[in-house]
Amino acid sequence: MEYSGEVAVVTGGGSGIGEQITRGLVDNGIKTYIFSRSRGEETADEIGKNCYFIETDVTDFQSVEGSVQEVVDRHGVLDYLVNNAGFTSDNLLLRMSPEEWGRVIDVNLNGVFNCTRASLRYLIKGKGSIVNVSSVSGLLGNPGQANYSASKSAIVGFTKTLAQEYGKRELRANVVAPGFVDTRLTEDIPENKKYSYLDNIILKRFAEPEEIAHPALFLLSDKASYITGTVLRVDGGLSFG
Ligand SMILES: NC(=O)c1ccc[n+]([C@@H]2O[C@H](COP(=O)([O-])OP(=O)(O)OC[C@H]3O[C@@H](n4cnc5c(N)ncnc54)[C@H](OP(=O)(O)O)[C@@H]3O)[C@@H](O)[C@H]2O)c1
Repeated sequence: MEYSGEVAVVTGGGSGIGEQITRGLVDNGIKTYIFSRSRGEETADEIGKNCYFIETDVTDFQSVEGSVQEVVDRHGVLDYLVNNAGFTSDNLLLRMSPEEWGRVIDVNLNGVFNCTRASLRYLIKGKGSIVNVSSVSGLLGNPGQANYSASKSAIVGFTKTLAQEYGKRELRANVVAPGFVDTRLTEDIPENKKYSYLDNIILKRFAEPEEIAHPALFLLSDKASYITGTVLRVDGGLSFG
């Protein structure tokens, strides 16, 4: 892997997929900041050198702006952003409350806007590479996840637009769309539902978090210098129906 930049932010970088992305960046010598509400603190302590936690709620623009400012004040630069923080609150649409809808959109979509908007001017001056974590649920739909699918689908349009607006200034923006991954987010899926998902996955298993982190780290790196506005599905060959 090659990274000519120095400083990264990974939202939700304290657990699951985000933690593996954080570890990969730190292993490559990148000073990496985890933005999350709480989980990142322990992870940053455990990783130690070159890994830092700043308590941040991605749904709160002012909180995000303050955290980005802290990074830039410390290092004078921001090169990489991984919008990974995400959350599910599943229900069939007839039962979904406006709160269940709104909270998921707020974290998964407004959070991506807030972090990107607050970092963009610095990213353009720096190495300028963004990876946004979507989901196959956003590409294919998934019953019970109208809120989540809508948020993850919107991330694709957002990223393609971002890539077009700032490509001239050498900013790259790409999407990783994972299938099912063994993390906290999927641990409550009932066994019978899990089996029905496995039926549709060619590799017949859920991914490990690092199997999503590696493609995300590739897209972020200089090795992907001619890739922008793309969606990389990392789903073990998942298709519904
Ligand atoms: N697991 C899967 O099967 C799967 C499939 C497709 C896509 N994804 C996507 O992958 C990403 C990572 O999820 P994961 O599976 O690794 O689950 P995870 O371990 O639950 O990670 C989610 C992270 O988001 C952070 N977060 C949640 N709300 C936040 C907020 N308001 N502000 C800041 N940070 C917040 C959490 O940290 P705090 O609690 O400390 O805030 C947590 O570290 C998500 O975007 C998810 O939608 C996952």
